[in-house]
Amino acid sequence: MDYYAVVGNPVGHSKSPMIHAMFAQQTNQDLNYGKIEAPLDAFSESVNTFFAQKNQKGLNITVPFKEQAWSLCQERTERAELAGAVNTLYLSKNNKLCGDNTDGVGLVSDLKNNGIVLKNKKILIVGAGGAVRGVLQPILKEMPECVVVCNRTLSKADELVSIFKHLGNIRSSAFEAVNDAYDLVINGTSASLSGNLPPLPVKVIKPETVTYDMMYSKDATVFNGWAKQYGASKTIDGLGMLVEQAAEAFDIWRGVKPQTTEVMETLRAL
Ligand code: ATR
Repeated sequence: MDYYAVVGNPVGHSKSPMIHAMFAQQTNQDLNYGKIEAPLDAFSESVNTFFAQKNQKGLNITVPFKEQAWSLCQERTERAELAGAVNTLYLSKNNKLCGDNTDGVGLVSDLKNNGIVLKNKKILIVGAGGAVRGVLQPILKEMPECVVVCNRTLSKADELVSIFKHLGNIRSSAFEAVNDAYDLVINGTSASLSGNLPPLPVKVIKPETVTYDMMYSKDATVFNGWAKQYGASKTIDGLGMLVEQAAEAFDIWRGVKPQTTEVMETLRAL
């Protein structure tokens, strides 16, 4: 039997063990996926202890350790390199610690599942923290017309633009300067966690606008509630992104891509 786990602090709330157990059952893979709460000052020790044991094959990394996981890796995929954060760890054949970041591809897959095409679209991304940095490469790969990164602290949006500008048409904006309607508005701020709304002008929404909140909750998120109120055509929360990033990690580890629809339905019904 092979062993996997998610590492975070806190990690008690994580849905990853349930998601991976459903993937394993569906694909007939013999594996066990647990949870590890690493002490805040001993993340690297937790990772090293895990991989030192036999048949311990892979880890997912969640808050607040994704950047530390990036630093620990001896090898990284291109998308993880650019994301500055790693959410999937495994050992290479010659025992090197390898890191990938499946968050961005998870977001793009969920958008595709919802019938949303990014090519030639105008996209507004709100926030410029780790969560947004983690998704920019896969979004730009879809060749949108433009990506505008809007953040309270403009210098952080500028920094992201300088990291990703070689990949496509991306620029930064302050909230006050946002002056256009967008096809897709993605909320990547942590404002929703405290029930707050980023101070976006209503004019970003037009009748065709789709909004995506990278957070999820049982009822509509504050951000998606706001978007619906002002006429967005479709609002999506981040549950699908959670399941899709897990499916991508499962594929990296096991070489088989699980189906996600039923897993999403099961989680939604909880
Ligand atoms: P994460 O890893 O979740 O991205 P982070 O790196 O701390 O967390 O980034 C949080 C993001 O949410 C930042 O873009 C932050 O804006 P600042 O860079 O200006 O701090 C944004 N954010 C948090 N609360 C917000 C609020 N109430 N309104 C607008 N933006 C907010």
